[in-house]
Amino acid sequence: MSNDLKDAPPGRTLTSAPPSNRFPVSVGTHSAPRPDKRDQLLLLVNSRNPIITAETQEEERVEQLLMEIATELDVPLYTWSVTIGLARMKGAPIYNTETPEQALLNIDLIHGDAIFVLKDFARYCENDKVCRRLRELAEKFGSERRSIVITGTAVDLPADLRGEAAPFHLGLPGAEELLPGIQSVLAEANGGQKIAMGLDAAGVTQLARNLVGLPQDEAIRALRKCILAGRRIDASLLEAALDAKREALRGEGLLETICRDTSFSDVAGLKRMREWIVKRKSALTPEGQRFGLEPPKGILITGVQGCGKSLAAKSLAAEWGYELARLDAGALYDKFVGESEKKLRKALELAQKLAPMVLWIDEIEKAFASAGTSGDADAGLSQRLLATLLTWMQDRESGVFLAATSNNISALPPEMLRKGRFDEIFFVDLPSGEVRVALFMLHLKKRGWDAAAFNLAGLATAAEGFSGAEIEQSIKSALYSAFAQKQQLTTEILLGEIRGTQPLSVTRAEDVQAIREWAKARAVPAD
Ligand SMILES: Nc1ncnc2c1ncn2[C@@H]1O[C@H](COP(=O)(O)OP(=O)(O)O)[C@@H](O)[C@H]1O
Ligand SMILES: [Mg+2]
Repeated sequence: MSNDLKDAPPGRTLTSAPPSNRFPVSVGTHSAPRPDKRDQLLLLVNSRNPIITAETQEEERVEQLLMEIATELDVPLYTWSVTIGLARMKGAPIYNTETPEQALLNIDLIHGDAIFVLKDFARYCENDKVCRRLRELAEKFGSERRSIVITGTAVDLPADLRGEAAPFHLGLPGAEELLPGIQSVLAEANGGQKIAMGLDAAGVTQLARNLVGLPQDEAIRALRKCILAGRRIDASLLEAALDAKREALRGEGLLETICRDTSFSDVAGLKRMREWIVKRKSALTPEGQRFGLEPPKGILITGVQGCGKSLAAKSLAAEWGYELARLDAGALYDKFVGESEKKLRKALELAQKLAPMVLWIDEIEKAFASAGTSGDADAGLSQRLLATLLTWMQDRESGVFLAATSNNISALPPEMLRKGRFDEIFFVDLPSGEVRVALFMLHLKKRGWDAAAFNLAGLATAAEGFSGAEIEQSIKSALYSAFAQKQQLTTEILLGEIRGTQPLSVTRAEDVQAIREWAKARAVPAD
């Protein structure tokens, strides 16, 4: 937990960035001027941190930032790599400094303010002597503005050093940072390959936004590929870029961007929750923000199985016109053993980059439930994962709306349910008679049948205690029966299916009752 707090970006007042907009999110424009990465790094250097770690695949971006900082502070910048040795930026390497030990010895000999970038250095710190020397060096740095920045794709320092090191999180580039690279790719395609330029300045900015979420190199590569494949620079390129990004993110595993193929018109009932959501939409418009509406942060949807929790969470994104991404919390345990926390943090950071968006965590208890129970083998891990999530929920900027669902909210750790974590906790109960009518209409229509030809009231009465999923299932089964009997689907056949089905509310009456009791005190009815 303390680690997470330390990782949180410094407050905006500490940076030299212009004061942030009071309502950073608006639909269609990119979110939040963030505390600038350069300022964050500058702050770490200025506050006399002897060792700074930067874990990233984008070494050049860190170097670029440090170059700017060194220029601004007017201090020399040195880099070291095992192949080149220690060298002043743009200067020749110092003779005989390729080994880590010699590098440290030489750093000790260089006096005065300076920044040293040591590439991939963490792995050499496994060596006792190197580790010791680095510690001694760091202790001497105290009074001067001297920092060692250790970069690498994974920076795992030995415990002795970890305490001395301040982590810098570079994060993914934002749209503004991607823009220059994108412009030069477009210019090259336009000039060299004679592809007509069909995008105006706003279009190019949108293109940059569509690629946000990828590291710089990858964004440029994806763009080149799209241009080569389509040979057009126009609106179709915007779509292609978005698709390319979705594809690239799929490979990451944990965060899956999904097409918004369901909307509220696919949901029966849940009227109150839908009203809540529709109302909050205005908080996302520039007018609403000027009015002072607070952007919503998230909801938790709980309740009886098969009553549309997941469906509603998914539909929300379409209602607001947001991107939708699902966080596969279960994969944290299965796929990424040993790196679960890092993966989660990355996924959450990515979500912020894709803002404005809806982040959907389905059955959230699967990932975080055992955090509350000690003794479980996974308890330690899920405790840490929970801490990561909660910290993120607390600190995040607006623009990411969390839509979580849970079948068993009583299994969730109480920290997660504390006031202020979610804007609202909704309880989805078994559908009422009226909603059951709507469910039959909706699902018959979806399969091409005219609902008016059925006795809907009779069906709804017969299906008392059925969930939406069970009603849908009864229609599916009835269709099979009718088809096998070479008949049209009739109310009779549907009634036959319904009478032959034991709904969960009967077979597991006690569970359903318990969920209701629990929710009555703690959640708002969704209908
Ligand atoms: N309120 C509803 N409106 C429309 N369809 C529903 C509703 N509830 C359930 N269904 C149908 O049942 C399926 C399963 O519902 P789901 O949202 O996964 O339930 P839950 O997440 O609550 O367990 C949905 O995909 C949908 O086809
Ligand atoms: Mg579900």
